[in-house]
Amino acid sequence: MGKQDLLFLLLCSLSYAVLALSQNTTSESDENYWKLREEKAKKGIQGAYHPHPFNVTNHLNFRTRILQSRWSEDEHVGINSTRRALAKRYKKSCMFFNAIDACWRCQADWEKKRRKLAKCALGFGRGTTGGKAGRKYLVTDPTDNDMVNPKPGTLRHAVIQLEPLWIVFAHPVMVIRLNQELIMTSNKTIDGRGSHVVIEGGAGITVQYVENVIIHGIRFVDIVPGSGGMIRDSVNHYGFRTESDGDAISIFGSHHVWIDHCSFSKAADGIIDVIKGSTAVTISNCHMTNHDKVFLFGASDTHFEDRNMQITIAFTHFGKGLVQRMPRCRMGFFHIVNNDYTHWLMYAIGGGMNPTIISEGNRFIAPPNPRAKEVTHRQIPNSPWDSGTWISNRDVLINGATFKESRASLQLRQVQSKIIMPMDGRYAGRATKYAGPLKCVPHLAC
Ligand SMILES: *[C@@H]1O[C@H](CO)[C@@H](O)[C@H](O)[C@H]1NC(C)=O
Ligand SMILES: *[C@@H]1O[C@H](CO)[C@@H](O)[C@H](O)[C@H]1NC(C)=O
Ligand SMILES: *[C@@H]1O[C@H](CO)[C@@H](O)[C@H](O)[C@H]1NC(C)=O
Ligand SMILES: *[C@@H]1O[C@H](CO)[C@@H](O)[C@H](O)[C@H]1NC(C)=O
Repeated sequence: MGKQDLLFLLLCSLSYAVLALSQNTTSESDENYWKLREEKAKKGIQGAYHPHPFNVTNHLNFRTRILQSRWSEDEHVGINSTRRALAKRYKKSCMFFNAIDACWRCQADWEKKRRKLAKCALGFGRGTTGGKAGRKYLVTDPTDNDMVNPKPGTLRHAVIQLEPLWIVFAHPVMVIRLNQELIMTSNKTIDGRGSHVVIEGGAGITVQYVENVIIHGIRFVDIVPGSGGMIRDSVNHYGFRTESDGDAISIFGSHHVWIDHCSFSKAADGIIDVIKGSTAVTISNCHMTNHDKVFLFGASDTHFEDRNMQITIAFTHFGKGLVQRMPRCRMGFFHIVNNDYTHWLMYAIGGGMNPTIISEGNRFIAPPNPRAKEVTHRQIPNSPWDSGTWISNRDVLINGATFKESRASLQLRQVQSKIIMPMDGRYAGRATKYAGPLKCVPHLAC
């Protein structure tokens, strides 16, 4: 062995030691890093809580009803008009029975003014602006190979940046297989409009201890657990993660998250989990198919921070091959409004631990199975824990569907005489007609 070889060996072992040391250092500071992130998110969560949640449900219902009245006027005026004249008129006045879409979809310049979407969230996620304040980040590379130093141009590189970003996709079709969970930072929009973006066959997205995230126009297919390992979660930190659950989107201790016009089919665990005190969340215009446990809102009977959880589900189509949990709620306040439930095998809405569930203007089409006609499912029937509030207001129940309201709901109705009525469930089919990602072409309304 020559001197040079020896030197080389020495250098190798030295650098190995340095590497090992730095890795251990990372895991020690890991705890501090996540603790800080958690503390910051918790402060935001307190500020995001609405002391008068019915003001929020009223606001959404009011906005939808304005559209509904416009539509009926048009229908009346349109009796003698040609189809072409009608189409033009509908486009102009925004034909959608859907107050979120009406905010931006009729604008032909959507591609130039993508950030206009940022003012369109309604419900508890209202005010979520995502990456509005930041520059545009173009994802050009669908690969996901380096978990610690992701390549510029990849989705993983985009979501770990500290600055706000409006993330868009360069190619007409981009299929991304996430090698491990994609851990997002705050103030980001993932905007799939204009591309066919599919997150498929790999891990899902983790929204952990962050704020202000919009995910729009993305398809999630066949999500499986990530094996875990070293993963970067922001430009200035990476650390060890255990195996991920296999949720398409996991929202953990976060606030102001808006998921709009996404589609979901098959995930190893849940489609979307909202847990550990997360709040100010809106899920709208999404399309779900082929999945067992769809939405889990609150993961444990002992996570008492979930009492402040406030979530809106609106204009969403629960479609073929779904089984249960649309959603399954614990403790918080849930506004489930103008959704179309066309398929379920066990039940649609489940809950326990004293949740407040306001179901309004939905259409529930029960399955043929005579034992699955009931929309609701109490986790522990006839126990004190069952005392939650379950209201059904202007829902349409079809094919023998039943909705078991709670006694508390009667009292609440008497007190809440100021409730603004939702759009009737008869229109839920129309409101959800465009659920899932839209085909958007530049210079034309989506
Ligand atoms: C790092 O931790 C591992 C396992 O805990 C240990 O075997 C190794 O000796 C540590 N390395 C250093 C440089 O401390
Ligand atoms: C919210 O609701 C409360 C109670 O119903 C009412 O007194 C208050 O004026 C409302 N606030 C707003 C901003 O609408
Ligand atoms: C439609 O046309 C018929 C016959 O021309 C007319 O009687 C009717 O008033 C028209 N309706 C509207 C709403 O304009
Ligand atoms: C997100 O953006 C807001 C507004 O610019 C800023 O106050 C906040 O600190 C940002 N959040 C994080 C975690 O960087």
